[in-house]
Amino acid sequence: MNPKKICIYYFSGTGNTELVSKLFCKEFRKQGAKADIIAVEEILKGKISINVKDYDLLGFGHPVHAFSAPRIFFEFIKSLPPAGVIPSFYFRTAGDPLCNGGATSLVRKILQYKGYKVFHESLLVMPANVLIQYDDELVKQLFITAKRKIFKIVKEVLQNEVNLQKNSLILRIISYLFSKAETIGGKYFGEYLYVTDSCNQCNLCINKWPTGNIYKDNESGKIKFGKKCTFCLKCVYLCPNNSIKSKYMNFFILKDGYNIQKAIENPMLKGIYVTEATKGYFKHFYKYLSDV
Ligand SMILES: Cc1cc2nc3c(=O)[nH]c(=O)nc-3n(C[C@H](O)[C@H](O)[C@H](O)COP(=O)(O)O)c2cc1C
Repeated sequence: MNPKKICIYYFSGTGNTELVSKLFCKEFRKQGAKADIIAVEEILKGKISINVKDYDLLGFGHPVHAFSAPRIFFEFIKSLPPAGVIPSFYFRTAGDPLCNGGATSLVRKILQYKGYKVFHESLLVMPANVLIQYDDELVKQLFITAKRKIFKIVKEVLQNEVNLQKNSLILRIISYLFSKAETIGGKYFGEYLYVTDSCNQCNLCINKWPTGNIYKDNESGKIKFGKKCTFCLKCVYLCPNNSIKSKYMNFFILKDGYNIQKAIENPMLKGIYVTEATKGYFKHFYKYLSDV
C-alpha cells in the first residue's frame, strides 16, 4: 500500500506551533507516512500555491489567542478552496491547560463546511509567550511531553480514530466573544507599537512579519505599524535590539523576550518542574503532563 500523503498547514507567531508542526511531521514520517508542513502566511502572501487535493490527509494548527484562533488563521481557512471530502486533523498550542484552549467549534465549522472533515482534535500545551515567563525546566518538560503526546496523536490519526473536543455552550460563548475582542485588540495593539531609538533599521520585522503590517515611512524613514496586526508578537520578540515596544500594553510582553530553543537544547535541564507534589499556580498542569 502507498504511504499516506499528509500536509500540515500552520500559523505560528513565536515558534511554538511551528515546532509542534515539525514534531508532527517527523513523527508521521517515522510512522511510515509522507509529510510536509507549510506556514499559512506563505499561502496568504501568494508565495506557495495551495494544492490540497494532492494529499490524503491534512493537518491544521494554530496558537490559541484569547480562547480562539488568531485572525490570520481564520483568514486562511476562509480562503481555502472547497475540498470535496478530505480527512483532517486539527491541533492548537496554548500556554495553559486550564482554559482548555477554548472551543474548537468556530474553526471546525468553517473547515467542515468546505469539506475538510475534521475527525481528530488535540491541544498541546507549550510555554506562554505572554504575561508569565515560564521557568526553563517547565519549558523543557512541556516540550518533552508534547513529543510524547504527538507520538500517540499521530498513531490515532493514522488509524482514523475519532477524537473531537466536546465544546460546552459556555466555552463556545467565551470563545466567540474573546475571539471578537482579540481581533479588535490586535488591531489596536499593532497600531500602538513603536520603535525606540535603538532600532538600527535592519528591516527584519518588515521582512518576517506575516501580514505586511510593518513598513518604512517614505518621508521620515522610520519603521511604522499599520492596522493589520494579528497579535502574534513575532516582531516584538524577533527584534535583535529589542526596539519594538507597545505604548499601552508592555505588561503583556515578556520582559526577557521569548526564545524556547535555549531551554530545549540545554542538556543540563531534566525537564522536571511540575510533579504530583507541586503547589501553587502550576499545580493544574500535572493532569496534562501526566496524561500521556
Ligand atoms: C494575543 C495572545 C493571546 C493568547 N491567549 C491565550 C489563551 O487564551 N490561552 C492560553 O492558554 N494561551 C494563550 N496565549 C499563549 C499562546 O497560545 C501560546 O504561548 C502559544 O503556544 C504560542 O504559539 P506560537 O509560538 O506558535 O505563536 C496567547 C498568546 C497571545 C500572543
